[in-house]
Amino acid sequence: MDYLQINGNNSLSGTVKISGAKNAALPLLASTILSKNEITIENVPNVKDINTLLKLLSNLGSTYNFENNRLRIDSSTIFNTMANYEIVKTMRASILTLGPLLSTYGHCEVSLPGGCAIGQRPIDLHLKALELMGADIEIKQGYVVAKAKNGLKGANIVFDKITVTGSENIIMAAALAKGKSRIVNVAKEPEVVQLCEILQDAGVEIEGVGSDELIIEGTDRQKLDMKDFKVIPDRIEAGTYLCAGAITNSQITISDVVPDHLEAVLMKLEEMGFGLDVKGDSITIKPAKKIRSSDIITSEYPGFPTDMQAQFMALMTQAEGVSIVEERLFENRFMHVSELQRMGASIMLRGNSATIQGKIKLYGADVMATDLRASSALILAGLVAEGVTKVHRIYHLDRGYESLEKKFQALGADIVRLKE
Ligand code: UD1
Repeated sequence: MDYLQINGNNSLSGTVKISGAKNAALPLLASTILSKNEITIENVPNVKDINTLLKLLSNLGSTYNFENNRLRIDSSTIFNTMANYEIVKTMRASILTLGPLLSTYGHCEVSLPGGCAIGQRPIDLHLKALELMGADIEIKQGYVVAKAKNGLKGANIVFDKITVTGSENIIMAAALAKGKSRIVNVAKEPEVVQLCEILQDAGVEIEGVGSDELIIEGTDRQKLDMKDFKVIPDRIEAGTYLCAGAITNSQITISDVVPDHLEAVLMKLEEMGFGLDVKGDSITIKPAKKIRSSDIITSEYPGFPTDMQAQFMALMTQAEGVSIVEERLFENRFMHVSELQRMGASIMLRGNSATIQGKIKLYGADVMATDLRASSALILAGLVAEGVTKVHRIYHLDRGYESLEKKFQALGADIVRLKE
């Protein structure tokens, strides 16, 4: 198993190019199930989660070629509609195949994704919405067995709670359903917006894109004529590198981003005293005279992303005064706290809220990555810690960050990947 070794306490400089968004690419890859033709997708990040979904799609019958972030994929060749446990268990987002498989083929069996380090993460809302569209759903031996013999029907769906992959699943299902679907309280994340735009380009009529209410006219199982496209930049990877600039109080530039997607994160960084220079598709972060404390409440887009919570918590250990982080989306997303404490951080947990006392000197330690974003917080802490930090179990990081140590090395960080 690999681990990352970081020698802290040096500043960063230079420019880092941000990769395509994993969370946009995942539903977009799943959407190729709806396509009758082969397409090329550019800017696909070469990370573990993407390769897992490709493995699943190929197991279903898709054929593909993935090189230099360019994916040529043909899912019109699918012959199997069973997403099996062995692949699904390694990645929750495999559930994104449920909506498109069911709407295209009228039946499928998708393994339940199972537990997850950051909380319960049920899929009840996905299933409820598909039932409203006429699906007959049973849970059998750990699988969602879904049938809609004559195809799915358009329906009026009001999500009880905003769910990102739930919205994506139902948008893909509605695209090939018979008739109109109205989906209310739908997620507005940029990744959901791109999925809608790609489906529109493929001929699906969708009204309200970017709002919390969509009207989708289904094609009644007519497969789509999908066009080539490019995946949007990864706003979470972008935010993580901005936090790296911030925590080391250095000037760095991130390029190939959509600054509008990062509004909540940029506002927080400004509030904490950092200078920001936004020019076209790049953002430069400049050192703060004094890093000020701040409070965060995570919420759905366009609010502050839960996927940036851990990185900001690491940053808050270096801010003067008390900061409070309230996690509103996932009940157990504080696994990084005990690891940051091992490095000397002063953090008090109560329910879904963490109180961080800064500024505290951090010291290098052996720490354990527990989930994707928690792991990046440990790397950020390692960058300012005195001495050597070893981050173990970095397979979590490899799920979502492309060329992580190479990008950090290019910014001047002393970081290496080693074998246990
Ligand atoms: C997606 C992102 C993940 C991000 C999260 C929140 C992908 C692949 N992953 O995850 O990185 O952290 O959005 O921004 O895009 N819920 C239910 N029932 C359901 C579905 C969700 O109760 O059927 C709850 C969840 O437990 C959670 C909340 O809704 O409390 C939001 O979860 P959701 O938006 O579904 O997260 P994911 O789509 O899994």
